[in-house]
Amino acid sequence: MNASLSKKTSEQPSAQDIIISPSLLAADYTRLGEQAQEAEAAGAEALQIDVMDGRFVPNITFGQGIVKAIRSVVNITLDVHLMIVEPERYLEEFADAGADRLIVHQETCPNLHRTLESIRQLGIQAGVTINPGTPVNLLHEVLDMADLIQVMTVNPGFGGQSFIYSQLDKIRRLRGKLNQIESYIPISVDGGIDTTTAPLVVEAGANVLIAGSSVYNQEASVAENIAALRQSIGKHRQPDLS
Ligand code: DX5
Repeated sequence: MNASLSKKTSEQPSAQDIIISPSLLAADYTRLGEQAQEAEAAGAEALQIDVMDGRFVPNITFGQGIVKAIRSVVNITLDVHLMIVEPERYLEEFADAGADRLIVHQETCPNLHRTLESIRQLGIQAGVTINPGTPVNLLHEVLDMADLIQVMTVNPGFGGQSFIYSQLDKIRRLRGKLNQIESYIPISVDGGIDTTTAPLVVEAGANVLIAGSSVYNQEASVAENIAALRQSIGKHRQPDLS
């Protein structure tokens, strides 16, 4: 587990704690393992695996087998984003497959408190995410038991969508709520993160940048794209992982 993604800390995350987490959704599926390794070699501190069931979102993607395969070729943090109905049915399988953190949608968890507890009882970290139309207030009762909160900055289901700018205020309000309870757990942002939007979300209080199409594309290499993202957030250097 990447130290900078550890549980709540007493101090505000330093600027250096900005994590870049490429989303394999945008990668070349004919060489998924290599693409994961390219991201790791380029200094990405985590990887996001987007699991979609065609019901909660209109797309179908990866399952437990892909998580297990990627786990076998990289050492960095594996975040598994469960865009599926009834995620509680699959927590143990994805944990066994090698997820370091499972991120469930508030919208698919009627028993969210129990689901987050169940994830932690598996010995891995529990994240919760909300869609653009879902208010932060719905997370109020679980802010102190999540290891990460993910703000969707697109409507989930596909990569390459446009960033929804109204979510910047949501990120600010969420960071304010976490500060009030003196929790400095990571806020991740997912969707439309590129060299233009990355500095905006970091200024708003996000410190985990999930990036798919801005990392995996035809314009430049994975390493060049990750370096450009890192550069776009300026003074925020790669965290000291020693
Ligand atoms: C949406 C997915 C995407 C993906 C990132 O369901 O979760 O947000 O991770 O895609 P880009 O970076 O291409 O918007």
